[in-house]
Amino acid sequence: MRRPPETPSADEPAITGEAVRADHLRAADPASLTEEEAAAELAALAGEIAAADIAYHQHDAPVMTDAAYDALRRRNAAIEARFPELKRGDSPTEAAPGAPPAAGFAKSRHFTPMLSLDNAFGAEDFAEFAARIRRFLGLPAEEVLRFVAEPKIDGLSVNLLYEAGRFVRGATRGDGTVGEDITRNLLTLDELPQTLPAPYPARIEIRGEVFMTKAEFLAFHAEQTRLFEERERRREAGERVGEAIRVPVNPRNAAAGSLRQLDPAVTAKRPLRLFAYAQGESSEPVAETHSGYLQRLRDWGFQVNPLSRLLPDEAAAAGFQAEMGRERSGLAYDIDGVVYKLDRLDWQARLGFVGRAPRWAIAWKFPAEVATTRLLAIEIQVGRTGALTPRAVMEPVGVGGVLVRHATLHNEDEIARKDVRVGDTVELQRAGDVIPQILCVVDPDRPGRGVPWVPPTHCPACGSHAVRPEGEVVRRCTGGLICPAQQVERLIHFAARNAMDIDGLGIENVEQLHREGLVATPADLFRLAPKAEAMRAWPGWGAKTKGGASRKVENLLKAIEARRRPSLERFLFALGIRRIGEQNAKLLARHYHTVEAWREAMLAARVVGSEAREALGSIQGIGPAIAQELVEFFAEPRNLDALDDLLTEVTPEPAEAVAEGVLSGKSVVFTGSLETMTRQEAEARAEVLGAKVVKSVSKKTDFVVVGTDAGSKATKAAELGLRVLSEADWREMAGFDA
Ligand code: IVH
Repeated sequence: MRRPPETPSADEPAITGEAVRADHLRAADPASLTEEEAAAELAALAGEIAAADIAYHQHDAPVMTDAAYDALRRRNAAIEARFPELKRGDSPTEAAPGAPPAAGFAKSRHFTPMLSLDNAFGAEDFAEFAARIRRFLGLPAEEVLRFVAEPKIDGLSVNLLYEAGRFVRGATRGDGTVGEDITRNLLTLDELPQTLPAPYPARIEIRGEVFMTKAEFLAFHAEQTRLFEERERRREAGERVGEAIRVPVNPRNAAAGSLRQLDPAVTAKRPLRLFAYAQGESSEPVAETHSGYLQRLRDWGFQVNPLSRLLPDEAAAAGFQAEMGRERSGLAYDIDGVVYKLDRLDWQARLGFVGRAPRWAIAWKFPAEVATTRLLAIEIQVGRTGALTPRAVMEPVGVGGVLVRHATLHNEDEIARKDVRVGDTVELQRAGDVIPQILCVVDPDRPGRGVPWVPPTHCPACGSHAVRPEGEVVRRCTGGLICPAQQVERLIHFAARNAMDIDGLGIENVEQLHREGLVATPADLFRLAPKAEAMRAWPGWGAKTKGGASRKVENLLKAIEARRRPSLERFLFALGIRRIGEQNAKLLARHYHTVEAWREAMLAARVVGSEAREALGSIQGIGPAIAQELVEFFAEPRNLDALDDLLTEVTPEPAEAVAEGVLSGKSVVFTGSLETMTRQEAEARAEVLGAKVVKSVSKKTDFVVVGTDAGSKATKAAELGLRVLSEADWREMAGFDA
């Protein structure tokens, strides 16, 4: 079962309701605070805002919603206004939001700082902004103020430096003064002009926003979720996995993460777009008005948001704001407000800046898209890896022009923390315009509330036991082989190169066989022959080629037939039991030799304290957590049925006795850390080669492998005159480099 795209992965970093709740607590009127309280709160706010800035700008992993962040800054400004003498040296109002550049990119200093914008939250704020301009410039009431209105896109702002008409450098905003040099990444953007048609100034900094559309984001989100789950499964199976996969929470997050890749080839694959909207340093003036400047940008080949508009007077702002509010949900990209910029650049120059923001521009934000509705049910979705994710089903409610029925609840701890119960009225928010989430329960103290939610004991997709291993946040279905939600993933794993190695059975073919109802469990693969005719009728499966009929079906059936006698270790690995990766499968195969012996031992091991359980747990490298996973697999009778069914089709070859070698029968101690492999891998290999791995050094020890920072064991080995091996000696002896 695939997750519908509206539902985010349970694995994405949650923007929790914490910050929002903290904001509610901070409702006290600043005027009612004592000086001491105010000072303490300013200190706390400076820390919280700085931490949020770093999380957002440097790690692309926001820890609070934009609305909560804005609320913190507003609160900070309000307290400072009331207690100006308490304003701190590190006051957030003095610095542009941002964070110093992260390691990994060269630094790039902007010729003109990249500042931020003050916010307006309603018509009054906007009127005050315009009045301030009039006051500052000493303009009479009849003087018309024209503003350019530009939708404010939620993306990542960039500074683009052009010299002699050529793009020479591009940077993120960073802390406003120094950003990260992301020139190579920016060069992969189709919408970035690499040269400007003349005339152009000798040097100019052009600023704009890099972003991802909502549709591109959804597709990217789904793909990253798939990769994340695949990696999780491999990791749980004990396989080596590469770098962590980030699942972005919203389009801004996705754009920022994509642009801040150390490898531009990764950026190039991401669907990033660019709108230009501002200027930094310029060696000569390029326009007299901002609208004129936008025209120059268009002439130079930049994309300028087509919704940008020169308004006839300041009164037109409210209408534009309302219009964008209505259009918002239908736009291809997220906007969180409208930026209004005074059109005349000579006035802009006179107005200048105050603190972190210009006096001539303001960002009129949309109200946070919050709605309240009733929670009808909490349903469970089963992911491809068996993770059970709770999802809220609500009375449909419009949030920002989109009808929302479902919201993510992330995991059971989150439900407990927010104490969300069926029947509650809940506050809902669409974060980044795409993913709805429940913020909090409205009136949690009302009498007659429902009962706290209880997590399921069984998988809703297949009825197998659902367990939540100690120390983990996710509950999982144990019916790996038979759970319809997990079948496709299991089959892909089963057929993979390092598992059963069935040629031609990649993701797409597995998905098709499953979709057409021909294959549900691994055993079904071996019963495909009579279905060959039906398969040939599928587009692309039996089409004629120049040389005659396509041999796709024949080749696939042949590849499957060729795997009826796999090695026991491949077979065990292919079953996809949690934590049974290639190494552990090898250990089991070596220990039990035949599939029958293994099967019998696993059945017996279901009894806690049994001899079989003890024996399983004491296999070197297996340990209690892995033993537990095996036992859980066998505790589900339908897994056993599926296994037995598979064994009617497949006959695993008994594992060979360990070849006699330098290590067989020897006792080995590892000490210190190894650089090229984990301790677990080293120990497993020693076992496979017939050695006994022991923990302490004694006269009976044959070899002591000494890594870096080895302690007393190495000293003792030397004292006893034992054979000491370096990591390189060990690699050679164990045949790693053969
Ligand atoms: S003008 C001093 N124009 O909003 C001028 N900014 O809160 C500052 N943004 O860092 C920027 N759309 O990331 C400007 N049309 C627009 C914008 C825009 C989005 C972002 C930008 C900036 C932030 C300021």
